[in-house]
This record gives sequence, structure tokens and C-alpha cells, in this order.
Amino acid sequence: MEKQPQDSKKGMAPREVPPAVRLLLSMALMNVLLYLCLGRVFTSPQHSIGNPRDCPYGHFKIGQMKNCSPWLSCEELRTEVRQLKRVGEGAVKRVFLSEWKEQKVALSRLTSLEMKDDFLHGLQMLKSLQSKRVVTLLGYCEDDNTILTEYHPLGSLSNLEETLNLSKYQHVNTWQHRLQLAMNYVSIINYLHQSPLGTLVMCDSNDLPKTLSQYLLTSNFSIVANDLDALPLVNHSSRTLVKCGHRELHGDFVAPEQLWPFGEDVPFRDDLMPSYDEKIDIWKIPDVSGFLLGHVEGSDMVRFHLFDIHKACKSQTPAERPTAQDILDTYQKVLNSLRDTVMSQTREML
Ligand SMILES: Nc1ncnc2c1ncn2[C@@H]1O[C@H](COP(=O)(O)OP(=O)(O)O)[C@@H](O)[C@H]1O
Ligand SMILES: *[C@@H]1O[C@H](CO)[C@@H](O)[C@H](O)[C@H]1NC(C)=O
Ligand SMILES: *[C@@H]1O[C@H](CO)[C@@H](O)[C@H](O)[C@H]1NC(C)=O
Ligand SMILES: *[C@@H]1O[C@H](CO)[C@@H](O)[C@H](O)[C@H]1NC(C)=O
Ligand SMILES: [Mg+2]
Repeated sequence: MEKQPQDSKKGMAPREVPPAVRLLLSMALMNVLLYLCLGRVFTSPQHSIGNPRDCPYGHFKIGQMKNCSPWLSCEELRTEVRQLKRVGEGAVKRVFLSEWKEQKVALSRLTSLEMKDDFLHGLQMLKSLQSKRVVTLLGYCEDDNTILTEYHPLGSLSNLEETLNLSKYQHVNTWQHRLQLAMNYVSIINYLHQSPLGTLVMCDSNDLPKTLSQYLLTSNFSIVANDLDALPLVNHSSRTLVKCGHRELHGDFVAPEQLWPFGEDVPFRDDLMPSYDEKIDIWKIPDVSGFLLGHVEGSDMVRFHLFDIHKACKSQTPAERPTAQDILDTYQKVLNSLRDTVMSQTREML
């Protein structure tokens, strides 16, 4: 790619095309070729997600299953699920790759009884929010503190860079697919903010690694929300706001309204700490999207086009930040316009 075409070295080009322009054009051409070739092989995530909504409430279907099955009971979880190996752990759950009827599944166990309230809240949210944006629930047993969900071998979003670095996935390591992931992520936030239960805030996200660990990357290269243990409800009409935990938060990943406002001289007190709304999730979107876009050919061009909307997300005044829907619309426009630009540049070259 860095090599100069032969003719320019021999001085055959009548007018020198600046090397930077040439590089840009060849990058654009490669993107288009990749996009055109791979678009066929790689199914678009939006149309391919196994959707538990195809089953009635309390039922699921995964993998090659033909029929919807009711959520597994305590009895079935105890006798039909074989625990294989640990694949993850957080403050609330220890997660095991397991087997059920020759299918891989994920069995989550409560780590400590102190966390039971969070565990039960997460389970309630999983039950209520089953959709293509949320991991599929297969069963649960409150007596045993277990939850069974669909297993996603690519694991959480924290593994994204490692996964995309594998030769098997190099073909999706493009700005197009990475922008699509950012759109998946914002779609999930949008879904939570407009959920059937009302406006839910993704509280368990006080730093980037923590935030990434709450979402799973599906084999279809889409994102689902997985850990719903801290999803409090905001109700603007009854002026019900939320607080994410009872401890003081620090740093600039969290929204400014999540920080102790009374200065270092006043010791933190939870009861004096003001509450806030779902716009804390909007503040975090530029950082998560920035991670998802990564550093591949074209990601800086995408970043440049997202500059204004991301700047608006970082408004100090929560009410001035855009909604997740606004952001999603902007991302879609940028994706469309960059695709068009890349296409027309290529057409000019040919
Ligand atoms: N269904 C799943 N498939 C694959 N990996 C999973 C699955 N569920 C959880 N994990 C892994 O386990 C980790 C912890 O799960 P999580 O539900 O976030 O637990 P906690 O509530 O304790 O934070 C995740 O970050 C992910 O790496
Ligand atoms: C991925 O897509 C295929 C094809 O559309 C579908 O059959 C499969 O269920 C999907 N898998 C997951 C994990 O969503
Ligand atoms: C990607 O792979 C290369 C070589 O295969 C390795 O040197 C590099 O550290 C890897 N990067 C990440 C983020 O895993
Ligand atoms: C929000 O509060 C209003 C007024 O108290 C109430 O009527 C409404 O049902 C609440 N909405 C949700 C989603 O709880
Ligand atoms: Mg978690």
C-alpha cells in the first residue's frame, strides 16, 4: 500500500498527484473492495440475530432448536445442565461454560449472598427485557441462585481487540463493521432508555473496562446487553432520579453530575449526593464508541465525522446532551454518507 506505483517513479505521470491523495484514494479503493467482497460473505447483523421475541414470554429458542422451549426450572437446571469451565466473573456472578442437550450454554452462579439483591434485580430485568438487544434467558433457579443464558463464545466486549486480531476475524476489522458495532451499542442504550419498563439507566459502568464487560459480542458480530444487575428506573414525570451506588465516584469516564459536587473539604455523604438521570449514559457513549472504532484504516475519518455529536454528548449540562436516538440517527447518516463517498471516489478512479 505504501509502495508508489511504477509509472510515477519513471516520471510518466503528466501531473504529479500528491502522495497523500494517492494514499487516500488507494485506501478508499481497498475499503470498497473489502466491503463489496465481504458484504456477501458476512451477513448483516441486523437481520441475523436469533430473536427470543419469536417465542412467547417465558420461552426461548437458541441455535438449531426448531421449537420454543419454556425457561428451564430448578429441577431441569439441576439435572440437565453440566458445568464445564469458568469463563468469567464479576462482583455478583461467576459464569461457567456449560452444556445442555449438546448445546453450549452459560450458567451464572451468585458469588456471595450479600449480592443477592443485585442478582435478583438482574434476573428480573433479564426476564422483562428479552429482545434482540439482550442476551437470551434459558432458565433460572432462585433457590440455587443460578441463571442460565445463551453462551457467546466471543465473550464480552473487553475481548474485542484480541478477537478482531485473529486472522479469522480480520475481514470484519474494518471501520464499517466497527461503526456498526458502535451503532449496536447505542441501540442498546436507546432500548434501555425507552424500555417496556420505562427509562432504565446502565449504572454498572463506572469505567471503560467495567462497561465493556457488561456486553457480549455475538458470533454474528453484533452486541447484546448481558449484565443487567444495576438498571434503576428514572421517571421524569414523577421526578424520580437515580444514583449509581452509594460510594463516591471519581474520574472523567463518569458524567460530571456523578461526582461529589461540594469540594474536597466536605467529606462525601451519600445522603447529600444529588441524584441524576439517564443522560449519564449519553456522556459515556463517545468513550465506548471510540473504543469500538479502534484504530484501523478509516476509523479516524469516522471519528472526525462524529466529532460534533460526541462533543454534544460531553455537554456539562445533562439536558443539553442528545438522546440515544439522536446519536443513532447521526451514526446512520455518517455511515451512509461515508459509504457513498467511498463509492463515488472509487467510481471516479475506475
Ligand atoms: N452468556 C455468556 N457467554 C459468554 N461469556 C459470558 C456470558 N455471560 C457472562 N460472561 C462472561 O462473564 C463475565 C461476567 O459476567 P457478568 O454477568 O457481567 O457478571 P457480574 O454480574 O458479576 O459482573 C462477563 O464479562 C463475560 O466475560
Ligand atoms: C447468527 O446468524 C445465523 C444466520 O442468520 C442464525 O441462524 C444464528 O442463529 C445466529 N446466531 C446467533 C448467536 O445469533
Ligand atoms: C495482534 O497480533 C499480533 C501478531 O499476531 C501481536 O503482535 C499483537 O500484540 C496483537 N495485538 C493485540 C491487541 O492482541
Ligand atoms: C412515572 O410517574 C407517573 C406519575 O407518578 C406515573 O403515572 C407513571 O406510571 C410512572 N411511569 C413509570 C414507567 O413508572
Ligand atoms: Mg458485570
